[in-house]
Amino acid sequence: MELAQRKMIIGGNWKCNGTVQSIKELSENVLNKAEFDSNKVEVVVAPISVHLTSVKALVNPNIQVSCQNMSATGAGAFTGEIAGEQIKDLDIQWVIIGHSERRTLFGEDDSIVAAKVARAQALGLKAMVCVGESLEIREAGTTNDFLKDQLTAFKDSITDWSSIVLAYEPIWAIGTGKTATPEIAESTCAYIRSWVAENVSAEVAQAVRIQYGGSVGAKNAADLISQENIDGFLVGGAALKPDFLSIISAANQFPESQA
Ligand code: PGA
Repeated sequence: MELAQRKMIIGGNWKCNGTVQSIKELSENVLNKAEFDSNKVEVVVAPISVHLTSVKALVNPNIQVSCQNMSATGAGAFTGEIAGEQIKDLDIQWVIIGHSERRTLFGEDDSIVAAKVARAQALGLKAMVCVGESLEIREAGTTNDFLKDQLTAFKDSITDWSSIVLAYEPIWAIGTGKTATPEIAESTCAYIRSWVAENVSAEVAQAVRIQYGGSVGAKNAADLISQENIDGFLVGGAALKPDFLSIISAANQFPESQA
């Protein structure tokens, strides 16, 4: 049986960066220069919420825009929160959920991540849901168990797996310049896929896209994207630079099916 090819997905997580001027420059001088086949690669960038509308207006239509976070609540008396309904109202289709910076710096635990995933699903928002271990866990050899717990925590929030992308981002590789080797990234993404096969279904495991994130740059993108279970990236620092174009191009050039 011919297995369906997974479309690659390159996310650019701009984190809490950017000014009105710099996002204009980044959109016009970098993003809009990206050349890729939209049937093969999706590109989604995530600016801060107050820049969502401007970035959406600035970028070419083949570039999608994502919120970096959303509230576990709906609209109402929740000062400082941004509800999924409001993200949808801006005609934004994507949200990042459970990024390790949200988890470690802002106290988002597994139950909050699960509630956010449930809200995104209820609203029909597509989500890049992040998982990833600390250096301590990696060194203790308990990465897979840790990831299993993170995945289990939000699994039951998912009713439509086609709008979920799993982002594997080892915390020790984020913003540190310490990329996971292609072997480590691949074996961990393969574990995540096998977990989905066992706990959801073989079909979902075959179809779900798994991104790698953590110090992805122009130099390592091609090696990482050629791994069988890596279907794209969630890029931080390099997404703010022309390097992002090289990363998109590495995905666009990768031959045919990774499946
Ligand atoms: P980095 O960040 O590419 O700067 O390591 C990745 C991320 O946090 O999504």
